[in-house]
Amino acid sequence: MSIIEAAPRGDTDLAVRTEGLVKTFGEHRAVDGIDLRIRPGEIFGVLGPNGAGKTTMLRMLATLLKIDAGRAEVFGVDVAGNPHVIRQLVGVTGQYASVDESLTARENLWLFGRLQGIASPRARSIAAELLGQFGLEEAADKPIAQFSGGMRRRLDLAASLITRPPLIFLDEPTTGLDPRTRGQMWDTIRYLVADGCTVLLTTQYLDEADQLADRVAVIDHGRKVAEGTPDELKIAVGNSTLQLLLADPDEVSAASEVVRRVLGSDPVLSPERGRLNVALDQADLAADVLIALRTAGVSITSVSVAKPSLDEVFLALTGHGTDDDSSTEENR
Ligand SMILES: Nc1ncnc2c1ncn2[C@@H]1O[C@H](COP(=O)(O)OP(=O)(O)OP(=O)(O)O)[C@@H](O)[C@H]1O
Ligand SMILES: [Mg+2]
Repeated sequence: MSIIEAAPRGDTDLAVRTEGLVKTFGEHRAVDGIDLRIRPGEIFGVLGPNGAGKTTMLRMLATLLKIDAGRAEVFGVDVAGNPHVIRQLVGVTGQYASVDESLTARENLWLFGRLQGIASPRARSIAAELLGQFGLEEAADKPIAQFSGGMRRRLDLAASLITRPPLIFLDEPTTGLDPRTRGQMWDTIRYLVADGCTVLLTTQYLDEADQLADRVAVIDHGRKVAEGTPDELKIAVGNSTLQLLLADPDEVSAASEVVRRVLGSDPVLSPERGRLNVALDQADLAADVLIALRTAGVSITSVSVAKPSLDEVFLALTGHGTDDDSSTEENR
């Protein structure tokens, strides 16, 4: 596309490059100096709790919000200076939220294609292809007013793919979806990448980042606090987690003391009283903790060993949980 070729290029080896990206709302720095390097063909995950600045960062990169300070490039094209070029390079979900509810899924996709300047027969065949690819064939001719949340999400993603953009932003693509629909979404995202796309997705779920992302940046209060492969992040918190529910919630501090003595580290206290999670380097250390708790006379209602949660990754990386208001700090 000539318009893209004409744009001045910086580092064309990267799909996304940001340096010191900042967005301020009043006094609040929602995005506070973020540096990113995203390679073409990878799935890059941005992991962070509510209010971390994930959506704000994506909106700046998609030219939907002004960049207050710092710099961003998409395939070497400066975002602030070339918004019209960036909009051709990037597909953003959520952008099409105001689709016409009375039209069918097929009609909506066709209409988006037409609005992007695609000829009618071609728009029709792209719509049919996307409906098949997203498992929406059966519902294709129903008005989207009758669609479930998961179907809407898939239609939204399908709409953002009509022009086959090389870079796709997915803002929490599976939040609120049931497990089966989540799995379908993950498959779709993998398919996009196999087809040559680069994907930048935000999520609140470690398991999602783990399943999908090649690399992950962890964001907290507008800042990047860690970056690495999902495995590298998990190693920071141990390979597994012992989840305990105490019979008597008042024994939390006694139980914490036992954990500290056995493992030399503190457990993560859940906002739910009497529940605590213990990061373990090896799953078999769980037995040592349980024996020590019984010796100390601390009774337990339930026990399980699981993979670390996002909460624990956060606690390990930032010293606080994903929910700042949780009782984690004062319970210690
Ligand atoms: N238009 C706005 N005006 C004022 N403050 C805003 C605006 N948009 C976002 N914020 C604030 O910026 C911070 C980051 O918000 P953002 O939506 O980027 O977080 P997020 O990481 O996407 O969270 P979530 O997981 O809940 O979607 C929050 O404190 C939010 O209240
Ligand atoms: Mg958000």
